Order: sequence, then C-alpha cells, then structure tokens
Amino acid sequence: MPEEQINLFELSGPQASAPPAGFDPDLIPTDVKVPVPSGTYQTMADLAQHCNQCHRCGLGATRTHAVVGRGNLQAPIMIVGEAPGQNEDETGLPFVGRAGQLLEKILESVKLDSEKDVFICNINKCRPPGNRTPSIEEAEACKPYLLEQIRMVDPKLILLTGATAVKSLTGDKRGITKIRGDWLEWEGRLCMPILHPAYLLRNQSRQPGSPKWLMWQDIQKVRAKLDEILTGSA
Ligand code: URA
Repeated sequence: MPEEQINLFELSGPQASAPPAGFDPDLIPTDVKVPVPSGTYQTMADLAQHCNQCHRCGLGATRTHAVVGRGNLQAPIMIVGEAPGQNEDETGLPFVGRAGQLLEKILESVKLDSEKDVFICNINKCRPPGNRTPSIEEAEACKPYLLEQIRMVDPKLILLTGATAVKSLTGDKRGITKIRGDWLEWEGRLCMPILHPAYLLRNQSRQPGSPKWLMWQDIQKVRAKLDEILTGSA
C-alpha cells in the first residue's frame, strides 16, 4: 500500500469517516506492517471478518475462531480482558468459561445486564497456545482492533481486567493490586483497572481485603459511576 494512501487514514474518534474509495480492506490483516487506521471499520461484523482472516501476529496460525466480542454494541460499559482461552477459542465468544461465569455473577450482583449494559472483549482476539500471556508484540499487533472497537462502541466506562489488559491498552505498568479500584483517564476515557476474574477463582475467601471482597468494592464503584453519568445526562 503506498505511503500517501496510509496518510489519508489519519482520523480519530467516533466521528472518523469511511475509508476512501479505492482502499482494499482485504489487504489489512495479513501482516503487522500493514496498519489498521482509525475509521477502517463501519461495523463490528466487518472487524470480525478481518480478525478471522488476520495474521498480523503468529496467533492467527493456531486459532479456531477469533474472539471479537459479545454484548451490546452501544453499551455504556466496555470490559476488556486479556485473551481468549480454550472455551472462547472454540465458541468464538469472550469470557464463556469459568472466569466468564464468575464475571456474569459479578455484573449481576450490581444489576448490570451482560447483554444490555456491557460489551465484553479482549486485548488479543486469538488464543495464545497453552493460555500463556500474550507477548508485547502480539498485544501491539492486535491493538488497532481494540481501538476500533472502543471508537465504535464509544463506552462511557472501560473496565480493564488484570495487569496485562491495563498495560496493553494504557501503557501503565503498575501492579494490578496497586491500581485496581481507582479510576484512571486514558485518551479522555474513564477506565477502571479491576482484578481478573480468573484470579478470584483461585482465591475463594470473602474476608475483607480478599480478591472477592476487593472486586465487590470495585464493581459497586462502577455501578455508582454509571448511575451518576446516566442521571447527569438524563
Ligand atoms: N480470560 C480472558 O482474559 N478473556 C477471556 O475471554 C476468557 C478468559
């Protein structure tokens, strides 16, 4: 793709317009050197199609399905996980295994509906073999898809589950136990780092200070902030 054509895509935000005529979207996902500029996708379905053809990193070679997202495409809350596991790779849907079932319960506990109030996705759309943490290069290769998802859904709040999600999106390298539960601003958007549900599964205690207890504090803060935003703009 010629340089001049790439420069035409330097658009950002929800108002980014359609890619110019002559742009061949089939060229995008085949190599990490080919950029995926803001405004590339008009719909999540188009993005999903590319993710399923994508070989911007090596994870494309072993996927069954790219795992793009589930929930409301206009949700006020976006939840961003790390990467699909086996259940997600098999079904093509994020957070459908044990961690996902716990996530559903956490949302229900503050009356958030996973089909109406949230859109759930991951930093990486393809499963890393053996469920290892995605490498920095793999996260970077996939990041344009996430940025497009954020632009299209335009959520009021973003929840980042675990340190890898926080670091990959915002560059903040602090430990999750230090930063969880505090709002941070990224690109003008309110984000909250929260513990990863899989971490809660390994720690069953509900005592004050335990992972489950901390999650309960954090999700209540999220509910309160959403109510504040919805009431303020009513
Ligand atoms: N863990 C994640 O981070 N994402 C999923 O989709 C499933 C488990």
